Amino acid sequence: CGIVAYIGSQAAYPIILKGLKRLEYRGYDSAGIALYGKNITNFKKKGRVAELESWTDEITLTASVGIGHTRWATHGEPSDVNAHPHKSNSGKLTLVHNGIIENYASLKQELVQKGYTFESATDTEVLVNFIEEIQQSNNYSLEEAMRIALKRVVGAYVIIVMEEGFPDRLIAARKGSPLVIGVGDGEHFLASDASPIIEYTKKVIYVNDYELAIISQDEIILKNLGNEPITPYIQQLDMELAQIEKGGYDHFMLKEIFDQPDSLTDCLRGRLDSENMTLTLAGVEQHLSVFSQAKRIVIVACGTSWHAGLVAEYMIETLCRIPVEVEYASEFRYRNPVIGPGDIIIAISQSGETADTLVAIERAKEQGAFIFGVVNAVGSSIARISHAGAYTHAGPEIGVASTKAFTAQLTVLAMMAMKIGKAKGTLASAEYDRLIAELALIPEKVKTTLATHEAIKEVAKHYADARDFLFLGRGYNFPVALEGALKLKEISYIHAEGYPAAEMKHGPIALVDENLPVLFIATKDAYYEKIVSNIQEIKARKGMVIAVISEGDTLIRDMADHVMVVPEVDELLAPLISVLPTQLLSYYIGVLRGLDVDKPRNLAKSVTVE
Ligand code: G6P
Repeated sequence: CGIVAYIGSQAAYPIILKGLKRLEYRGYDSAGIALYGKNITNFKKKGRVAELESWTDEITLTASVGIGHTRWATHGEPSDVNAHPHKSNSGKLTLVHNGIIENYASLKQELVQKGYTFESATDTEVLVNFIEEIQQSNNYSLEEAMRIALKRVVGAYVIIVMEEGFPDRLIAARKGSPLVIGVGDGEHFLASDASPIIEYTKKVIYVNDYELAIISQDEIILKNLGNEPITPYIQQLDMELAQIEKGGYDHFMLKEIFDQPDSLTDCLRGRLDSENMTLTLAGVEQHLSVFSQAKRIVIVACGTSWHAGLVAEYMIETLCRIPVEVEYASEFRYRNPVIGPGDIIIAISQSGETADTLVAIERAKEQGAFIFGVVNAVGSSIARISHAGAYTHAGPEIGVASTKAFTAQLTVLAMMAMKIGKAKGTLASAEYDRLIAELALIPEKVKTTLATHEAIKEVAKHYADARDFLFLGRGYNFPVALEGALKLKEISYIHAEGYPAAEMKHGPIALVDENLPVLFIATKDAYYEKIVSNIQEIKARKGMVIAVISEGDTLIRDMADHVMVVPEVDELLAPLISVLPTQLLSYYIGVLRGLDVDKPRNLAKSVTVE
């Protein structure tokens, strides 16, 4: 979910509406805004934020205080009633919430016994009434009531509350979900991330867990839940508005795919110097002894970031000879893993807010592991709780399906493996130098690959009606097969599976017939001959073969039904290039099927619930 709020002297409605659109990638099944005009009026709708444009109540629309929300359903289906903001029974409090209240059922029971009634199926409506009940039965101020209520709430939240009778004040609080306050001149902005704020001010405050912010037009008071004041730390945002707009492309996803030569250049900037053959990665260098002495490395992540982790496993084991495990964060955190001092956890996350990843590293930290974050969103929760880290610097990623964040993750992970391997002596100097030179060529090779987009669009036309898809690869390209399948699934709703090419014989081959497209990631590497045999196995069963091949490869070109050609790259860095045709293919198939590729159904960009 995403939240936005405004308090100042301008009309709040257009600011909040625009902000919600910027945050729509966080959830888009329903949305709502409450404005404090003569009193607090609430307008909420199932569907996209655009549905809120039909609000025509003139008086309210000029109000200069308001809160808004765009939802990704957790408790209760997407509907007008379940959309936020939610009002308390007396109508005095109106609240937006991002997160999950885990003990909402028992709180609800308590409230029902006291006579409270509920319109919606949400945990949020329980929370707003819980605060009201504490306020009314003790005659407390809203601030006091919130402090007490939040101490009893289990779960994650960011909330912003408006109160009837207090038109010049918002109270916000957070635990486990992000909140940024934009500091303007006689006005303040609140949001789940900086994108709705940046066009008005670059001065921001990141609110921390267990903090309460009391915000008026001219003042921000920060306190902890013990009512002690905290001095707000105002930071300057280093981000331009153009970075988060579509820049002439039809979709954010396409823009972000084409951003990759630049985003990778940004990722390498100040780190890789191929003239002097140096590589600097401050976060790793400051802790080189920790890495050199590591007993093992455990990588935790979700989704696309998890696939980047799988590639890193190959890279780190090859270059550093440190055992690596790659875990789904959601599994890792619940199965009482054996973790302790001497273990390094690498958390990979685009958003830096994924709840499963965040909690997984909190647990591992408690058990004495060293936490290293590979994160895109600067200042995000995962970045802040890690002991050290390296930002991927891919810029804001808006399209729900991750593209440029993935290649930037691979780039950072490759640099890490090279640095650690060099320091440990497991990577010879000559090999290190060769990889530096190879890495420096990547942005240009990305550009060359993306220039083949028209040919990939033609391939897409042949497969837009497919029902299933199989993606196969070996070695470094095995995770690319998984990522290719995930991307196609997310964007086109075609069922797709990724598999190690050799493992295909142990199951998926039963699916092969003349209707099943099988996409091979078959670039020139140590496994090339083997993958040629796998392609023959598919062709012998009349499967349709699409192959991502290296330039000049006529052998596979002649065997396959369609090919997508990429420049030759060292196999360790191959995923950075071989993933690109799969991104474009998914995009074009999604568009041909008439789907909203930037906002696929049921998905959210940043999953801040478990
Ligand atoms: C969501 C997104 C995916 C992303 C995953 C992990 O499911 O839709 O694109 O890979 O979360 O997100 P993170 O921000 O931690 O990389």
